Amino acid sequence: MADENERAEVQRAHWQDTYTAHPGMYGEQPSAPAVHACAVFRAAGAKDVVELGAGHGRDALYFAREGFTVRATDFSAIGLDQLRASAKAQDVTGRATTIVHDVRDPLPLPDASVDAVFAHMLLCMALSTAEIRVLVGEVRRVLRPGGVFIYTVRHTGDAHYGAGTAHGDDIYEHGGFAVHYFSRDLVDALAEGWTLEEVFPFEEGDLPRRLWRITQTLPR
Ligand SMILES: C[S@@+](CC[C@H](N)C(=O)[O-])C[C@H]1O[C@@H](n2cnc3c(N)ncnc32)[C@H](O)[C@@H]1O
Repeated sequence: MADENERAEVQRAHWQDTYTAHPGMYGEQPSAPAVHACAVFRAAGAKDVVELGAGHGRDALYFAREGFTVRATDFSAIGLDQLRASAKAQDVTGRATTIVHDVRDPLPLPDASVDAVFAHMLLCMALSTAEIRVLVGEVRRVLRPGGVFIYTVRHTGDAHYGAGTAHGDDIYEHGGFAVHYFSRDLVDALAEGWTLEEVFPFEEGDLPRRLWRITQTLPR
């Protein structure tokens, strides 16, 4: 546990430094999974979205521009400062709010209070399998019946899987960033009690990162 806490603090500092050095590092355009999620959330009748690990907000602000009410969370206050500045510039402050939050802590939201949750490359951060299981339980708790959870993760087919410093539990650190590479078994375990709608493979960036986009819903 001490090791996990220490690793999380090192990672938070690394993300704070990275956003300071590279403001808006992911650009202003939404990610492909966010564009897909927007259509899925709209078809499900969702009005409000919680984003976990929103960073500087390329996706949260896209959801806001598309008319959703968005609560963007991240443990980097610097990333979220950049998100709020962009929200002002894009005139969506009324629909986008931020919460500094470490996903290893309970979500600061009531039970059954959210229509949809989105998390692009957050569950595959430096989180243990036990922490990921608890987090998905929290997502389940805050979603309304019929709620939709879309998340993406790098997986064991990624070029960096097994490279760099091994932390155990399929977590490897490369260039200062620790990543938990997901196995298909882990995806299936996290969907127990949900309807697993889709596990969609895709690539992002130059490496390229190899990811899965997972969509799972709660029964109504
Ligand atoms: C790979 S980046 C993706 C950012 C954003 N989703 C995007 O695609 O533009 C991962 C994000 O997760 C955040 N993060 C990592 N570990 C976290 C944790 N334990 N709690 C909350 N946020 C975390 C980082 O600060 C970073 O903004």
